[in-house]
Amino acid sequence: MITKIQQTADYLRSRIGSQMPSTAIILGTGLGALVDHITDGVYVPYKEIPNFPVSTVEGHSGNLIFGRLGRQEVMAMQGRFHYYEGYTMQEVTFPIRVMQALGVKTLLVSNAAGGMNKEFRIGDLMIITDHINLFPESPLRGKNYEELGPRFPSMTKAYSRELIDLADKIAEEKGIRVMHGVYVGTQGPAFETPAEYEYFRIIGGDAVGMSTVPEVIVAAHAGMRVLGVSIITDLGGKEITVEPSHEDVQAAAAEAQPRMMEIMRELVGQL
Ligand code: HPA
Repeated sequence: MITKIQQTADYLRSRIGSQMPSTAIILGTGLGALVDHITDGVYVPYKEIPNFPVSTVEGHSGNLIFGRLGRQEVMAMQGRFHYYEGYTMQEVTFPIRVMQALGVKTLLVSNAAGGMNKEFRIGDLMIITDHINLFPESPLRGKNYEELGPRFPSMTKAYSRELIDLADKIAEEKGIRVMHGVYVGTQGPAFETPAEYEYFRIIGGDAVGMSTVPEVIVAAHAGMRVLGVSIITDLGGKEITVEPSHEDVQAAAAEAQPRMMEIMRELVGQL
């Protein structure tokens, strides 16, 4: 594993040459269009990167992008790997290990999520303050490599308080409504039953989604500071009768995307 990470990092250094970014962004739902703001971008297709998982979704662009967002050097993942697609946890989180090897210290991540919190509305942005891992396994299961992080890492500060405060301040200045909440990570790919949404709310969740938690666990293990923001694309619970669909999720995400991007762009500028 260590050899593979080093191989991949060496390859990327040889492709990029210049200084490596200390900030990485996973362009999940609601951040896809951020690529249009990355200047001097060098696109490295996943399929050309040694040891990288290959994207299963037809026509889905998978690229690592090295460029600048404002004045800040960044590395962006266009397309992420979901556990529900059949990837192993090691594959899902391999890009985070490569980021670590390249010297990334700050990780920004977005996703779509179903809201259980009764104050949430469709299209809300939720700054993730914490998560509950309900994936069937941890990406840290198996041999621990001390050079990557400790065997028993703390998850107390998996989501950086400092970045949450900064995102809050920016949202307030821009007049963008942001909620705070706990993200429940599940394997999917089915959306939840009404009883499951209810259950996730009772155990302390505010929103549920099918990504992010594996990457954040590995980022925390690697000592990175993380900011995660969800777009609430649908609502779930016992009294909610509207069925979530992929189309509705996409539509709600598209509507909220400009607000998500505004916060993230400004935040990167202030790092
Ligand atoms: N459940 C799980 N994942 C999701 C949802 C949901 O309701 N909405 C968007 N991603």
